[in-house]
This record gives sequence, structure tokens and C-alpha cells, in this order.
Amino acid sequence: MTTTAPLLNVAGLCIEFRTGDAVVRANADVSFTLTAGRTLGVVGESGSGKSVLCRSLLGLIPSPPGFVTAGSVRFEGGELLGLDEAGLRRVRGTAIAMIFQNPMSGLNPVWPVGDQISEGLRVHRGLASRDARARAVALMQQVGIPSPEKRYDEYPHQWSGGMLQRAMIAMAMACEPRLLLADEPTTALDATIQDQILALLVELQERTGMAMILVSHDMAVIAETSDEVAVMYAGRIVELASTAAVFRAPRHPYTLGLLGSIPRNTGDTRLRPIPGQPPNLVELGPGCSFADRCVFTSAECRVTPAALRPVGPAHLSACLFPERMTAASA
Ligand SMILES: Nc1ncnc2c1ncn2[C@@H]1O[C@H](COP(=O)(O)OP(=O)(O)O)[C@@H](O)[C@H]1O
Ligand SMILES: [Mg+2]
Repeated sequence: MTTTAPLLNVAGLCIEFRTGDAVVRANADVSFTLTAGRTLGVVGESGSGKSVLCRSLLGLIPSPPGFVTAGSVRFEGGELLGLDEAGLRRVRGTAIAMIFQNPMSGLNPVWPVGDQISEGLRVHRGLASRDARARAVALMQQVGIPSPEKRYDEYPHQWSGGMLQRAMIAMAMACEPRLLLADEPTTALDATIQDQILALLVELQERTGMAMILVSHDMAVIAETSDEVAVMYAGRIVELASTAAVFRAPRHPYTLGLLGSIPRNTGDTRLRPIPGQPPNLVELGPGCSFADRCVFTSAECRVTPAALRPVGPAHLSACLFPERMTAASA
């Protein structure tokens, strides 16, 4: 049997935001590994800690108010937490790239789009301006931007949202990342453009062999793109397994709720809310944070800490009583 060393190993990651007297535990004991060439889908309602997780991998948590209080993030064997700004810049420019939900948050409005794509090539790859421009044009072509020669000198406001997201992807690809963090890359786009962008990401991944963390609140997107799924709730991973296992036999009631919320045959795959509200991350009790919304809950759920643990082969769940789900569906 051969074992592949993971590209990324996140262990026991805890991140909190301190504002006044309030402490928000945005990531609590987050652990997972990711192998080269694979995609981890991260899914969960708004506020569950998905973006904080992605940003922390690149040292992009503003501090204060944010603090990484425990854990480790090893990439290709080296620790990323605690890297200085120069070290982080090197990682961002050459190994790990991130694309955001809103492409404008990654682009400078007063600078031609093409120059922003070629900047990384000049700064990190040391390409001469002419060569960087040629490579940027080729990248723009690859991500499906029409007439890239002409559009190179245009400004962001002249472009549609879908084209700007393509530009962001071209910028990310310029550094030939081994890991791409895609934080809701299609949420701001309409459905047909969304499909094109996802297909593009999958195609780039197959061609380059990069690994990907794809954040979405859309289970259908995760189903189409991910090898494994991490379901986040209230700052924790509550279920972690292969995509097939999560969809076939979810072992956490929250995941079941997310799956039940896929409306069928309407083309609309956005989450319909699970009844109730996510808990206030400032006032989490000792027990399972999903207990108040869970249909299987019992008194013990409110007092016993629910840690992520194996419930089947390569299948982790933080539910104290996963058998209640199976009993209910039998
Ligand atoms: N800069 C910040 N200052 C204070 N709190 C923050 C900051 N960024 C994120 N948070 C808090 O961390 C929690 C998780 O946020 P986030 O990761 O953005 O959620 P998601 O991406 O899953 O919607 C939220 O409660 C949010 O309010
Ligand atoms: Mg987010």
C-alpha cells in the first residue's frame, strides 16, 4: 500500500475575534488534510467560519481583532502559521492562491486588468514586461476572456462580473498554485456563468494537478466538484467524508438538513434555510451547537461536548448519536 503525504494538513485550528468583551470563536478545533490534485468542498450556512478558515491559511486574518489561538497549518511539510510577512508573500505568490466571492475585492479599480494579471508574473516569476504581458494574454485566453490582446488594457469597470471572476482566476493561475482556495467563487454570478466558471476551475485543476478548497453554500456545486466534503457549523467541522458518502449516507443531522434543502427540478439549488437560527458564536454552551435545531436532539446533546470522531470508514461526524439518523430513515 502506498501512502501519499498530504499537501495540506490543518490540525486543531482555533481562531477567535475579540471585540470589546465579546469573543467570537470563528474556527474551533478545525482539522483536515488535503492531498495534491484533490478538491475539498467546504459547505455551511453564512457565518459558519468558512472564509475565516480560507483566509487563515494565507495569513489574511486581520489582527486585532482576529487571533489564531491554537493549531497548526502545514503545507508541503512546512508550518504556515506564524510566518512573517515576507514568508507569507512568497507562499501567496507561488504556492497558494485565493479567489474571492466578489472579484472586485481582489482587483484595483484604477489599474488595467491585464497589468494586474501580469503583475505576479513580473514580481514573483521575474518575467520581463513583454514576456509577462504575453503570458497574461495566454492566461486570459485560457480562462475564456475573448479578445484578450484588446481587453488587456481595459479597466475593471468596463468588465462584467463573470469576466472579472475569470480575470481573478487568471491572476490566481499566474502563480501556478499547488493549492487554490476558491471562496464562493460563483455566488455573485448568475446561473449559466456560474456553471462556466466551475467547469473552468475543474478543467484547470485536471490540467495542472493543483488541489482546491472550494467553499460554497450550494450542495449541488459541492456534489459536482468535490472529492471530499467538510460541513461546517458554528465554527466547527461537524462532518467530514467523501462526497459520495456525505450524499449517500450523511451522519450528521445538520448535513441531512442541508441535503433536504436542495429543491428538486426547479434549477434553484440554493439552500432553503433549516428551521431556526445558527447559534451566537459568543454564547456557545458546552454541548452540541446544533442541538437547538436538531430533530434528533436529547438532553445529553446540550451538555456533552460533540467532538468530530470516526463513525464509519473515512467518515467523521460530530454527532453524539449518529445512529438516531439511521434508525429514523430505516
Ligand atoms: N474581521 C472580523 N472581525 C470580527 N469578526 C469577524 C471578522 N471576520 C469574521 N468574523 C466573524 O467570524 C465568524 C465566521 O465568519 P466567516 O468565516 O466570514 O463566515 P462564512 O464565510 O462561513 O460565512 C462570523 O461570526 C463573523 O462575524
Ligand atoms: Mg464567507
